[in-house]
Amino acid sequence: MKGKKDVYTASLGLIGSAIGLGNLWRFPYMVGKNGGGAFLIVYLCFVVLLGAPLMIGEFILGRSSHASIVGAFKSFTPGKPWYLTGGLGVLTSSLILGFYGLVGGWSLKFFYLSSTNAFINKNSSEMGEIFIKFIASPVDPIFWQILFMVITALVLISKIEGSVEKITKIMMPMLFLIIIVLCMKALVLPEIGKGMVFFLKPDFSRITAGGIQAAMGQAFFSLSIGMGVLITYGSFMKSDENLFISALHVIGTDTIVAFLIGVIVFPVAFTYGIDPGSGPGLIFTTLSSLFNEIPGGYGLGVMFFLLLFLAALTTAISLLESVVTCLNNQCKLPRDISVLIATVLITGLGSLTSLSLGVWRETNIFYILDYITVDIFLPVIAMLTSFYIGHVLELKVIQEEMTNNGVQFKHAKILQQMLKFVCPVIIGAVLLIGLVLN
Ligand code: PHE
Repeated sequence: MKGKKDVYTASLGLIGSAIGLGNLWRFPYMVGKNGGGAFLIVYLCFVVLLGAPLMIGEFILGRSSHASIVGAFKSFTPGKPWYLTGGLGVLTSSLILGFYGLVGGWSLKFFYLSSTNAFINKNSSEMGEIFIKFIASPVDPIFWQILFMVITALVLISKIEGSVEKITKIMMPMLFLIIIVLCMKALVLPEIGKGMVFFLKPDFSRITAGGIQAAMGQAFFSLSIGMGVLITYGSFMKSDENLFISALHVIGTDTIVAFLIGVIVFPVAFTYGIDPGSGPGLIFTTLSSLFNEIPGGYGLGVMFFLLLFLAALTTAISLLESVVTCLNNQCKLPRDISVLIATVLITGLGSLTSLSLGVWRETNIFYILDYITVDIFLPVIAMLTSFYIGHVLELKVIQEEMTNNGVQFKHAKILQQMLKFVCPVIIGAVLLIGLVLN
């Protein structure tokens, strides 16, 4: 019984780390920007074709090496430069936190605004203006970003990560519940038809090579692939935990949450006249418009933005943890100092990112950082990691890790070939086509 409970807790932590702003904020904004239904289909193909084998591969690498990202590469190929792939993963985590912490701060601000009833009697265009004015301000978003990052760092320093698991345990069912309630509200909106057609009906003439590349990046980002977080989780997994089932849980939950958010956001956007391609404010403006109109909107709004913040926080914790573990293990810095250094540097980057949405608009740091990390670095790391696992790990290791309770895994060879050839070739081709034709 105890074994069962442990296994459940491990995948819950993993789900808490995987579900975050990637699903709730970035997914609808990317679908809206890249033409709707066609993006969704391409995204789902990447989740199945690349996401599943890579997630299982990262688990195998972590559990068989008992090490986190850089150490895992060092343990199988000591003295070889492969560990630099791990290093690039840690660098990417830090850079991603540069905008993740900022958007986490936006979620805190919207939690505050909704709880003080600040949206009352505002229509959707006024809501859009509030958002644009807020993110363009030189001080306000930086303040909320700092607050968000300080909370994240305090969790790491105060070692209350066990309590974070408890929060996740309550947060996840509540998040599901509120998403279901909001779906039901969205389904009776006047423009449900237009919203659903946009989201679900693929029109492949609207997707570009850059859109396909963005769908791949989004799949990696949402599933936390390519940043070592899955390798670290893998290293904590018990030997009796079924890696295939764990991956299925994470991928299934992550994809369902993203999908349902789309079911909510697009009907709301079409009903209230918000452009689905309006960019990173989409989830904030659509949902606050909805909360303003529906009965019980105040309570739902406060709950939703609180859950958005908590989902962002549980993810930010795992991202910062991966940077801190690397500083701690590889640079031999004490843990508290590592937390301090990482937080200060990342918050500094986040502040520059924030300014690029206002007074430093011409620098475009926000969009450049997002593009480079999610659409280039993650695929490159995923490609290298995939090849590495398929090439360096013996078939015996893959076989052993995938065999559970004596039940032989029959497809180890296929998995190995997928990781060694199929996934790297697909990733490389999509990257190349995206970069050349974009
Ligand atoms: N998957 C997370 C999200 O959807 C982002 C993330 C990426 C977290 C990589 C950890 C590692 O928000």
